Amino acid sequence: MSEPPVVIKTVDNGPYQVKGPVKVVDHENNVYELGPGRTRLLCRCGLSAKKPFCDGSHAREGFTAADRATPAETQ
Ligand code: FES
Repeated sequence: MSEPPVVIKTVDNGPYQVKGPVKVVDHENNVYELGPGRTRLLCRCGLSAKKPFCDGSHAREGFTAADRATPAETQ
């Protein structure tokens, strides 16, 4: 039986929402296993004190990122 695909969803003006199963490895090679159907938020604004994870700083600091990919970028 095949594993369900990893889903990465952008949140307007916020983080990337990652849905497992997936393994996140940080810059110090710490491994965070995310089981099937579990979700974590990855920082997209660069302001989190808990990188690579979101800590809510984007909302406090007014981060904006609501741009959409163009059709050519989606292929
Ligand atoms: S996206 Fe939430 S703290 Fe960066």
